[in-house]
Amino acid sequence: MEEKKINLLGISGSIRNASYNTGLLRAAQEVLPSSMNLEIYSLAKIPLYNGDLESNPPNSVIEFKSKISESDALLFAITEYNYSVSGVLKNAIDWASRPVKNSPLNGKPFAMMGAGGALGTARAQYHFRQIAVFTNMHTFNKPEVLVTNAYEKFDSNGNLKDEPTKERIKLLLDTLAQWIKRFQ
Ligand SMILES: Cc1cc2nc3c(=O)[nH]c(=O)nc-3n(C[C@H](O)[C@H](O)[C@H](O)COP(=O)(O)O)c2cc1C
Repeated sequence: MEEKKINLLGISGSIRNASYNTGLLRAAQEVLPSSMNLEIYSLAKIPLYNGDLESNPPNSVIEFKSKISESDALLFAITEYNYSVSGVLKNAIDWASRPVKNSPLNGKPFAMMGAGGALGTARAQYHFRQIAVFTNMHTFNKPEVLVTNAYEKFDSNGNLKDEPTKERIKLLLDTLAQWIKRFQ
């Protein structure tokens, strides 16, 4: 009998067309193990969080939370702005995390990677680990995928052209496949 595929939801911290981080998710689709599916979900339609709307959230938020619930794991591409996670990603996590007793993030396994400047989003990824504590998402320590000087590694459309980085993403996905087994 064919084994059921692992469904990953890919979330980028950037909504610009030629985003390097969204490019990392497309590269992950290229090197994806045959046991996995990866859907890339754009945060472009998620409005700013407003607690007044929590009991009757916008449709885009309802859809986003359903996509998270239906996935076996999340794959984040972390854009770093001003030494932290981009507002786009933090805002989406804030929506998804509410109400706390009904958060689809609770207990969710995930992996992350990021493309940025000299430190390859290291600072933002470490902040994201802190966010994962309260939202109760679970990731592993290694490998880290820190894509430094991203402007050298992507073309003008945001497609990854660097083979060693693709190999690193493959290692991350293989590790995630093993990690998810611990939660099933
Ligand atoms: C507001 C702003 C703040 C930024 N801060 C950082 C930073 O702290 N660290 C970093 O590596 N790059 C920083 N950058 C550069 C981004 O890494 C770069 O714009 C990158 O392309 C953004 O990710 P994206 O390609 O997925 O959109 C910043 C860019 C912007 C627009």
